[in-house]
Amino acid sequence: MDHFLYRNGVLHAEDVPVAEIAAAVGTPFYCYSTATLTRHFRLFDEALTGMDHLVCYAMKAASNQAILKTLARLGAGMDVVSGGEYARARAAGVPGERIVFSGVGKTRDEMRMALIGGVRQVNVESEPEMAALNAVACELGQRVPITIRVNPDVDAKTHAKIATGKSENKFGIPIARARAVYAQAAALPGLEVVGIDVHIGSQLTELAPFRLAYEKVAELTQVLRADGHDIRRLDLGGGLGIPYTRSNEAPPLPADYGALIREVLGPLGCEIEIEPGRLVVGNAGILVAEVIYVKSGEGRDFLILDAAMNDLIRPAMYEAHHDIVPVLEPAPGIEPHSYDVVGPVCETGDTFARGRMLPPLNAGDLVAFRSAGAYGAVMASEYNTRPLVPEVLVNGRDFAVIRERPTFDEMINRDTIPEWL
Ligand code: LLP
Repeated sequence: MDHFLYRNGVLHAEDVPVAEIAAAVGTPFYCYSTATLTRHFRLFDEALTGMDHLVCYAMKAASNQAILKTLARLGAGMDVVSGGEYARARAAGVPGERIVFSGVGKTRDEMRMALIGGVRQVNVESEPEMAALNAVACELGQRVPITIRVNPDVDAKTHAKIATGKSENKFGIPIARARAVYAQAAALPGLEVVGIDVHIGSQLTELAPFRLAYEKVAELTQVLRADGHDIRRLDLGGGLGIPYTRSNEAPPLPADYGALIREVLGPLGCEIEIEPGRLVVGNAGILVAEVIYVKSGEGRDFLILDAAMNDLIRPAMYEAHHDIVPVLEPAPGIEPHSYDVVGPVCETGDTFARGRMLPPLNAGDLVAFRSAGAYGAVMASEYNTRPLVPEVLVNGRDFAVIRERPTFDEMINRDTIPEWL
C-alpha cells in the first residue's frame, strides 16, 4: 500500500495534488511520500521484532539526503557500496556504527575513508579484497569487523541482470571455499571476523530462494563456529520484491520474510542485519511527466512524454514494467486506448511501454509512472544533455524540492576547455 491515491478525481501524493507540485516545479520530476517510506521501513523493522537486528537501508535504491534523513530518524542503518555512498550516509547524519560497507570491488581509498570515518562492518567479497582491507586496517592501526559474503549458488528466479547468488555471478566467494577463506581471515591481524553475509538478488517474488540460501548460511554458521570462529552477526542482504502491477502480483510481505528468518536463523542467536532497498522506496516514489505530443504512426499511436530513458532507465535496461496512470482520474466508463509510450531521446530503446491501454490522453496532460522510487532517480543520466529531473518529498500537506533541476549553464559549466582551444 502507498500514499498515491486519487481524491476528487485528482492524483494526490499524500495530501498534495500532484498537479500542484507540477505547477510549482515543472515536469518531469520524481516525487516521494514520507508516509510510504516510513510505513515500509517499519514493516521490515517490525518483521524482525524480538531478534537483535538492524535494518540497513540499501541506499543505492534512492540516495537523496532527505530520504536518508527520513529513514535514519526511524533508526535505519545504511548499506553503502561506494565511497560516495559512504559520504552521503555520513552527510545525512548516519553514524559509522550503523553503516555496513558492501560491494564487489572496494578500492583502498574507499576502505580508508570508511575506516577513518567509522564503520559497523565491511562485507568482504574476495581473497584479494581481504588482503587489501587487512593492509589498510594495519596501516591505520585498526582491527576492522568483517563478514565474508558467500555465494550460495541459489537461483533467485529474477531478471538475469539482477540475480547475484549463482556460482557464475561475480559476487561473494563460493560457499564451498568458505572454511578456507575464514581460516585465512582469522589469521590476519587487521580483521576481526564477526559474521557471514549473503545477498542473492533483487526483485525476488518468492520466499523459496531466500529459504535455500539462509539454510546454507545456518549450516555454515555451525561449521564455522565448530572451527572456532565467533560468528555472531548475519547480514542477509536485500532483495524482497514489490508489486509493479496493481493487478496480479502479490510478492511475499516483509512479515512473511521476517518469519522465515526467525524460523531458519533464529535458533543461532545471531544479530540479524538486512539490506532492503527496493521495498522501502520503490512504491514510495513516482515519476511525473507531461504528454508533449500524441503522434499517430503506422497502426499505432505514440504518446511522446517529456520524460525519457535517461530519467527512468528500468524499462530499457530490464524490460521492466511500470504502471502509468493519468494524473486526472478517467471518468468511469471511458474506453481505453492503446499507446506506445515513449520519450524524446533519439533511440528506439527510449520506449517505456508498447500497446499500453490508457484512457485517451492529449498534449499537456500529466501522467505518473508508479513504483519509480527505487532505482529511478539514482540511475538517471544527462544523456541528450537533458537535465537530471528534480526530486520532491511530500510530507502530509507539505512538499519540498529535495534536489533542484540544474540549469543548462550549470550543466555546461562542469566541462572545462583545455588551454589549446
Ligand atoms: N544488498 C546488496 C549487496 C545489493 O547488491 C542490493 C541490490 C541490495 C542489498 C538491495 O536489494 P533490493 O532490496 O533493492 O532488491 N537497478 C536494478 C536493481 C539492482 C539491485 C542491485 N543490488 C533495478 O532497477 O531493478
